[in-house]
Amino acid sequence: MLVLGVESSCDETAAAVVKDGREILSSVISSQIELHRPFGGVFPELAAREHLEKIEPVVKESLEKANVTFQDLDAVAVTQGPGLIGSLLVGVSYAKALAWGLDIPFIGVNHIEGHVYSIVFENPPVEYPALALIVSGGHTNLFFIPEEGKYKIVSRTRDDAAGEAFDKVAKMLGLSYPGGPVIEKLSKEGDAAKIKFPVAKISDGRPDFSFSGLKTAVSRYIRENEIVPVGENEEPDQKIKDIAASFQATVVRSLMANVEKLATELQPKTLIVAGGVACNLALREAAEKFGLKRNLPVYFPSKQLSTDNAAMIAAAGYFHLKNGEQSDLRMTADVTLRLQNFENEDADLKRKKVRYRL
Ligand code: KG4
Ligand code: ZN
Repeated sequence: MLVLGVESSCDETAAAVVKDGREILSSVISSQIELHRPFGGVFPELAAREHLEKIEPVVKESLEKANVTFQDLDAVAVTQGPGLIGSLLVGVSYAKALAWGLDIPFIGVNHIEGHVYSIVFENPPVEYPALALIVSGGHTNLFFIPEEGKYKIVSRTRDDAAGEAFDKVAKMLGLSYPGGPVIEKLSKEGDAAKIKFPVAKISDGRPDFSFSGLKTAVSRYIRENEIVPVGENEEPDQKIKDIAASFQATVVRSLMANVEKLATELQPKTLIVAGGVACNLALREAAEKFGLKRNLPVYFPSKQLSTDNAAMIAAAGYFHLKNGEQSDLRMTADVTLRLQNFENEDADLKRKKVRYRL
């Protein structure tokens, strides 16, 4: 079964042809990073316009690379949400029109479930129950997956996503967007033990994440120590490298603290780590070390499949199609689409104050 995946939730226009949910015949990604770099983040209006220009050439290129035609496709899977509304609508409208024109099924996929499926191509089959840490620019969640396709959020961020914190701290230091890869590179030459940044402790005791206090702590450190942000064409000095390394180590520590806590409580058989921040080698090493200690297999996607792509959307879509599910033409983009269908969470979780411990 050949599924065309389409992804346009944020700043990547992507299309992929995937065979039987596991074999990537092609994966084309048109990144808008250069377009948004001057703004230090994604500019939604520009992103939507760029998707509109790129969607057709990107889909056509994915078919050419896979050596198939439109008529060979069996179904279309598209990111329905969460994401930016203008961006999502481009992919959803295109995928709907295409499926309607070809008279084949189509399915709306949750982008975060897509990240969960990004590991299926390069790892052994997942054993359930699984625990999945999804860390990207827009999301930081831990999901408990009792069986394939069932999700329970067991940890979430109360404020910023981990990737967002990387991006914002990079901006404060005068580094370029996206911040994750730049901070990772500088961290290699920095001293991670130099500065003690705080790991947030949630006062209501839930094992949630919080990164805004860390961001504030970095900002305060910059101000109090009169750190000058890196200017254009300037080389970062040792002080900047130490901040980068100390910040990165704190993010990894705080992500792994909840992974360890919930893995102990829920006893999963597989740990999945995916999303843009899963590119980070320090996080990979920490997760691998933990996996070895607990005899728990840890599955990551390769770098290309960690950040947004359409192969993961096709793989998640394939699972649902195989289950007999499909969307109809009334399906539309959903900016706040949630991924939780196993046990109802406490709907009115009070967003209590977060306390920080130094
Ligand atoms: O999954 P993704 O491509 O998009 C979203 O769904 O958000 O993730 C992008 C995020 C950005 O915030 C970027 O800074 C972060 O992933 N990122 C990294 C690294 N590479 C990308 N964060 C830490 N270390 C990296 N090497
Ligand atoms: Zn993503």
